[in-house]
Amino acid sequence: MDNYNILMNNLDELNLKRFKDNLDTYLDMIATGTKTALDSLYELTQMEMDFRKEQAITGCVKVANFPYLKEINEFDFSFQPSLDKKLIMDLMTLRFLEKAENIIFCGTPGVGKTNLAVSIGIEAAKRRHCVYFISFQDLISQLKKASNENRLEARIKFFCRYKLLIIDELGYQKMDVDSANLFFNLIAKRYEKLSTIITTNSPFSKWADIFQEPVLTNALLDRLLHHCTVVNINGPSYRLKDQMQFLSEDN
Ligand SMILES: Nc1ncnc2c1ncn2[C@@H]1O[C@H](COP(=O)(O)OP(=O)(O)OP(=O)(O)O)[C@@H](O)[C@H]1O
Ligand SMILES: [Mg+2]
Repeated sequence: MDNYNILMNNLDELNLKRFKDNLDTYLDMIATGTKTALDSLYELTQMEMDFRKEQAITGCVKVANFPYLKEINEFDFSFQPSLDKKLIMDLMTLRFLEKAENIIFCGTPGVGKTNLAVSIGIEAAKRRHCVYFISFQDLISQLKKASNENRLEARIKFFCRYKLLIIDELGYQKMDVDSANLFFNLIAKRYEKLSTIITTNSPFSKWADIFQEPVLTNALLDRLLHHCTVVNINGPSYRLKDQMQFLSEDN
């Protein structure tokens, strides 16, 4: 086999796909003198590294289990004037993540709580942080199942692998005391070490009703709110955006 074909095989073996795909173009440029060998090698390796970085980002985003992929540039802040854009953009810097702080998005249906949590999560995943999105209901049923099977500690450890855990839709239904305890366990383990984002439609004054345990609720809120940005969103539902005109015409 000639050196060219051996080189191609070596690039396959080394899994340098972008390098291999672009090699012919660069060999032509070297032959015609439009690129030096040094510049060609530099650019080919750079292409390979950029490709790998992209793949790693795609992997992090996939693992995060987002319900949809909407980035912050798609979010219409003008639709939700009560929302402090500066505050959201500050959260997008992910400073809170480095300080293991929490975020709670609280508001009525359709105001963008999940969307904002997802956008922040995508940004974190793109910067190669371990992120995981889960609904509160799924989280509780996973913890319950693990507890019944005597492997609660391992399951809590699993959720503590994520630097950012996004728990969506807390408070949509009441829960039993066991579930409340399981949730408290998880939050206590993450406290001051790892960031959690929670979306909820229930103001904190109603949490004792949801968890049905005032003492536990206090201890939970104490830990969650100690280092936390609370974003209250009061405004119209984006889901009803197109109907709003008709609703106001009816009045
Ligand atoms: N300001 C906005 N700009 C663009 N899209 C928005 C905006 N607010 C909400 N949306 C979109 O509207 C839909 C509902 O928003 P989202 O899921 O974030 O609501 P929510 O506040 O989590 O409501 P719920 O309490 O019912 O879960 C989503 O498709 C979301 O992307
Ligand atoms: Mg939601």
